[in-house]
Amino acid sequence: MSEPAAAAACSEPVPAVTVLDVRRHAMKNYSYLVVDPLSRRAVIVDPAWQIEKVEAALVSAEATLDGILVTHSHHDHVHLSRPLSEKHGCPIWMSDVEIDTSGFRAPRLRGIGAGAWQVGRMRIEAILTPGHTPGSACYAIGANLFTGDVLFAEGCGICPDTAAAYEMFASLARLRACVAPRTRIFPGHSYGQQPGRPMAQLLRENIYLQFSDKESFASFRMRGGQNLAKLFVFS
Ligand SMILES: [Fe+2]
Repeated sequence: MSEPAAAAACSEPVPAVTVLDVRRHAMKNYSYLVVDPLSRRAVIVDPAWQIEKVEAALVSAEATLDGILVTHSHHDHVHLSRPLSEKHGCPIWMSDVEIDTSGFRAPRLRGIGAGAWQVGRMRIEAILTPGHTPGSACYAIGANLFTGDVLFAEGCGICPDTAAAYEMFASLARLRACVAPRTRIFPGHSYGQQPGRPMAQLLRENIYLQFSDKESFASFRMRGGQNLAKLFVFS
């Protein structure tokens, strides 16, 4: 998030983030319900697998679902977006590039570029971060950043080829430059760390944030000998 956005967030109500640990078979994802405490308007990030958990969280927060933020089009991130959109009559937001390149469609799907809009009193800022997919986006709401499969506490998302790894390097450089150290990072998955670690910790400990040139980054990201099956074993 830009410095002006971070400064604006100080005068805005602090959004409440509910972490939803959702599972189906071996797949484990995190979805996030984000509620404006004044208006009780809410958005959900990457809803998947267990709709009953989403509905229970909305009831518990006494909140109205106003929109669905999708970081990218992979099935484990869009799985519940269509049924929730239909039930609550709210839009699904996804980057224009991701819509164009993925073919994902839904009646209330809305394309977004980089930029900001409001839900209740919450300011939502999309940051385009391609690499894992061509149109991956992160969403900043207050001092929270929802990163999907772009940035995990322990690493970053896989990239299909070297060109995509170059894009991922640029995306992570963008996040390093514009995300305040106190910002809490909420990824789509975990390899052991609880969601909500501060960016400052990731800047120190996440090896993928340590590279200074795209060639070194890409050769590490695309290195041989990685156990791909293990990359999908989430905590
Ligand atoms: Fe993904």
